[in-house]
Amino acid sequence: MNRRDVLSYAIGGFLGSLSRGTQATSPFDYSVFKPLGELARKRKIFYGAAVSSKQLKDPVFTSALLKECRCIVAEYESKRYSLEPKQGQYDFSAMDYLAQFARNNGLMFRGHTLVWYAGNPAWLDTMLINRPAEPLLTNYIQTVVQRYAGVVRSWDVVNEAVNPLDGHQDGLRNSLWLSGLGRRYIDLAFQVAHESDPKAQLVYNDYNTEGVWKHGDRWRYATLKLLEGMKKRNVPVHSFGLQAHLEPIGKPIDERVLYAFLREIKDLGLRIQVTEMDVRNNSPLLTAQQRDQQAAETVRKFLDIVLSLAVTDEVVTWGLSDRYSWLNKSNKNSTSEFVSSPLPLDAEMMRKPMWRSIASAFSEADHHID
Ligand code: G3I
Repeated sequence: MNRRDVLSYAIGGFLGSLSRGTQATSPFDYSVFKPLGELARKRKIFYGAAVSSKQLKDPVFTSALLKECRCIVAEYESKRYSLEPKQGQYDFSAMDYLAQFARNNGLMFRGHTLVWYAGNPAWLDTMLINRPAEPLLTNYIQTVVQRYAGVVRSWDVVNEAVNPLDGHQDGLRNSLWLSGLGRRYIDLAFQVAHESDPKAQLVYNDYNTEGVWKHGDRWRYATLKLLEGMKKRNVPVHSFGLQAHLEPIGKPIDERVLYAFLREIKDLGLRIQVTEMDVRNNSPLLTAQQRDQQAAETVRKFLDIVLSLAVTDEVVTWGLSDRYSWLNKSNKNSTSEFVSSPLPLDAEMMRKPMWRSIASAFSEADHHID
């Protein structure tokens, strides 16, 4: 963390504390600036982050995680390529490790994801081409969801099933699941997950519906139609998962558009979870400070709208610290060390302006449980 950051945080913290009439102090003083998990708890919301077992071997990171979070989700170790690397040969070691870590530390544990067009082991892709798809879907869901019944509070049962650009009349995404089973694969996945753990919250998880962009309206429409049909068929889907990979430059948030979309989701009787929030703003035209500020403003605007609907139990960021963000991992050859300002803590676990935005959104949300 450089001098610029320390100065801006100290000023921000000082001004912030003055506005609250508290003793001027650093924003890293947990006695004044409560952790995000604690602020969210007051709204009956679990705040947490995506993690990997590897990251939990980093004591500085793990200390920050245990301060700030009340839930975790596996960034990739609860996906099928990790859990069933060979057909019928399960490897639960990584997910068990994360589940135990959550239990040992009183954290809620999310499951991500049971059925996806990606994240599958190579053997499955091959099998889905020339074998009946149904048992390949149902056996896996039963095995995994039954094992973690009572451990995983909410599952992203189906992930990213919508893509209007694939040309299907209902806007569904091409996948081996759609080819093998038709659109019923989605209903079937939720029905089997519910039978396997009737207490689990079941989430349909997707992206590209948050901002205003060329195909945004088509994505929102197809998502709404999918969920509307599932509710009409009494499919046990409880929540819509907004991934919230926010892109202020390419897909800015328009309050009216987002609120109208989420209002329709709520009117279907669904809850709305934020499942993978981060910010991609890797414009070379922005200074690091401008990127931090832009990310903070985007997150605040987004969360204020989501929380105003008062049907959110989980807000998860796709990581906690810029030290471990997929957005930076995939840009190793970038000119600047961090091409985006994706997460609430910087690489040194210092709270960023985005942290303050999330803290303020939790503290000021007119949020009550219906
Ligand atoms: O850490 C291992 C490394 O030890 C090993 O040598 C290497 C060999 O492949 O794999 C490394 O793990 C990789 C992991 O990211 C950590 O970098 C996995 O291969 C790689 O598949 C994994 O990618 C994840 C990706 O989903 C695919 O599962 C990303 O971390 C994760 O951020 C990303 O998350 C997705 C959500 O599931 C769905 N929404 C979009 C989101 C971002 O793409």
